[in-house]
Amino acid sequence: MSAPTSVPDNLSLAAQIENLLASLAKDRSIGFPAARDIDYGPTLPLFQMLINNVGDPETAPDTAHTKAYEREVLNWHADLFRAPTGDRWGYLTGDGTEANQAAILLARDRFAGADPVLYYSQATHYWINKTAGMFGLPEVVIRTDNTGEIDYDDLRGELARRRDRPAIVVANAGTTVTEAVDDPVRIRTILSDLAIRKNHLHVDGALAGVPLVLLPERPVALDLDGVIDSVAISCHKFYGTTITGGLVLTRRSLQRAARRIAYTATTDTTIGGSRTGQLAVQMWYVMRLFGEDGHRERAEQARETARYAHSLLASIGWPAWRNVHAFTVYFTTPPLTIARRHGLSNADGGISHLICMPGVTRQQIEALVADIATVKGTDQPSPSRGVRRLVPVAQLPLSAERP
Ligand SMILES: Cc1ncc(COP(=O)(O)O)c(C=O)c1O
Repeated sequence: MSAPTSVPDNLSLAAQIENLLASLAKDRSIGFPAARDIDYGPTLPLFQMLINNVGDPETAPDTAHTKAYEREVLNWHADLFRAPTGDRWGYLTGDGTEANQAAILLARDRFAGADPVLYYSQATHYWINKTAGMFGLPEVVIRTDNTGEIDYDDLRGELARRRDRPAIVVANAGTTVTEAVDDPVRIRTILSDLAIRKNHLHVDGALAGVPLVLLPERPVALDLDGVIDSVAISCHKFYGTTITGGLVLTRRSLQRAARRIAYTATTDTTIGGSRTGQLAVQMWYVMRLFGEDGHRERAEQARETARYAHSLLASIGWPAWRNVHAFTVYFTTPPLTIARRHGLSNADGGISHLICMPGVTRQQIEALVADIATVKGTDQPSPSRGVRRLVPVAQLPLSAERP
């Protein structure tokens, strides 16, 4: 725990900031997915001023903005997600939640008046429930298998029961707890078998969308040209930007009609109004700094660290799992003192995970496993609800990798 729990009142303003910086810099948690391998130093002077990318990325406000950089970032990602050249649109958001929400709002508006239904798996991040509530969408929650991947038979059954209603389906490219990946092509096939022509297939790629499309042989098709209709990513996760951010992409032809706002001199296509312009520059910077090959290499190194973590936990006999291509290793929760010391996040049901984002070191993994080894066989917690749904690595289906 590195964030201060209260604000000391006996320090000067300058000392307060120094104090805060020193305590935040101690954060080495490995349970939350934020890359720490990138030096954003050259971009930091931009934080001395207000830069506001208010409104649509393609319309220019009269005040200071960085939309040219934002458009480069969007285009680069549109290429990665294979959006048609003449039919692509998106924007940078305040976080991954807003990026997902922008896509769901767009989907809802496509089928306005036709009672669309929102389908998603039980492993979907909690942004989904509040979004369904905000946008008045009825929800159908689909089961997952032991690894966290959506149960396609359950999805087919639920879609079949409501064939006459438009379907908004959310697939995950990296679930929050196990980094499971749903297959959009299988979902498309189900929609087409059932002749549900009014459909929107969105991918929540907040965690692993970019790392997956960087793989030389893509394990799933996350193509905006023909397979999926929208995708969201988080900027502070794989890219480790120093401010939170998200990115949503879709095809322009799916976008709702938007109003021109005279006072901002922009078009109102975004959920929020003002948007931070520094994010666009950090994203542009990291895109140029590494290029596609550099980011592919970062992702591969992270997977290598995850393989190492998985094998180390297996070597001490602690139940642990890892899905194919994942940075995440999930395992039976160790005692709370250990979980806290290493900044692990605890999911429901006695499962913890560590996420080997770029910047996580082998030493951090070794320190965690050494701590867990000291309690192995003494007060190892008995698996609870969630753990029983999971099976040890040796029994996992092919989609999960062995150490
Ligand atoms: C799969 C997934 N989707 C969406 C989100 C939400 O992202 P944010 O916290 O940036 O709003 C998260 C955050 O952890 C996530 O793991």
